[in-house]
Amino acid sequence: MATNDQLKALVKSHADGDDPQFYAIAMQVAAKAARAGQSKFAQELRDLVNDLRERTGQRARIAAVVPFTQPKGELGSLLSVSYPEVRLSDLVLTDKVRERLTHVLLEQRQRDALARHGLTPARRVLLTGPPGTGKTSTARVIAGELGLPLFSIRLDTVLSKFMGETAAKLRLVFDALAETRGVYLFDEVDALGGDRTARNDVGEIRRVLNSFLQFLEEDTSESVIIAATNHLNLLDNALFRRFDTVMGLALPDDAAVESVIENRLASFKLYNLSWTRIIPAARGLSHAEIATAAENAAKRTILSNRTRVRTDDVVIALKERPRARRRADGPA
Ligand SMILES: Nc1ncnc2c1ncn2[C@@H]1O[C@H](COP(=O)(O)OP(=O)(O)O)[C@@H](O)[C@H]1O
Ligand SMILES: [Mg+2]
Repeated sequence: MATNDQLKALVKSHADGDDPQFYAIAMQVAAKAARAGQSKFAQELRDLVNDLRERTGQRARIAAVVPFTQPKGELGSLLSVSYPEVRLSDLVLTDKVRERLTHVLLEQRQRDALARHGLTPARRVLLTGPPGTGKTSTARVIAGELGLPLFSIRLDTVLSKFMGETAAKLRLVFDALAETRGVYLFDEVDALGGDRTARNDVGEIRRVLNSFLQFLEEDTSESVIIAATNHLNLLDNALFRRFDTVMGLALPDDAAVESVIENRLASFKLYNLSWTRIIPAARGLSHAEIATAAENAAKRTILSNRTRVRTDDVVIALKERPRARRRADGPA
């Protein structure tokens, strides 16, 4: 049932004519009811709100929800919120990953239609891949495309900061996730993979992993949950089963190298760039390193009063970047 505060907030938002706020609170009440086992009432309330939103032609605008979604109190130290405006077209992805991502976005956008048939949209995404290949960016794109706030949780930081109370902190995050629809990114989940045994207590990590799995399992919220990891092999198999889709990001192939550089240098004239020289210089570099190299080449061009970026500028900048070492050594 709605709390007194929620009722007051409902009346106040109505008096203020603040529709998005009004709907957000009603949805909160529905989420609370769902958790209390009143699923029929929760669904009726959600349907009512969705109908109203559609009729007034006013989907809750993200800007109006902003003050509402600032994590308060203790949550503020666990979650950082942002409102990304990145779009799918800003990322260079393989066809397979793009397809999976498009699919998640489509199901999210059509969630009302799915709900009418008792179906829930894909909303748990596991992202794997080396640093700098676009895991965080993909989470930002999902939030940006859906017009939702992005809440990020650094699990490794939470683990080291709240050792012993991590599971309780995770509970808070999952409560928030059920109350406020958003994209929730659990970054660096490898912290739960057990590779920190030297520094942390194995038993504690195991407990945290188990709570994380349990919260994932119990969660019936409307938020999108994303977990990102650099080390695929370290993760507990049980974690995999909890996700609707797994997207494996990898270092860029030749065509992707070209796209990343062209995107970054879009505002420059390119001087007959020789891709046969540039591509080998980019081998082993991540998207992030290549993007930085392209920016450095652009700066070099501007500072030497030229208007065209030359092959040499790009090749030199690429050679300066640190290369990811192959992880042939297994779990660290
Ligand atoms: N697939 C990609 N396509 C285009 N740019 C990328 C891609 N991956 C990374 N970048 C660039 O590198 C930066 C860092 O990437 P990020 O998403 O944080 O990588 P990760 O989380 O995998 O370490 C991004 O802001 C973006 O500029
Ligand atoms: Mg990242």
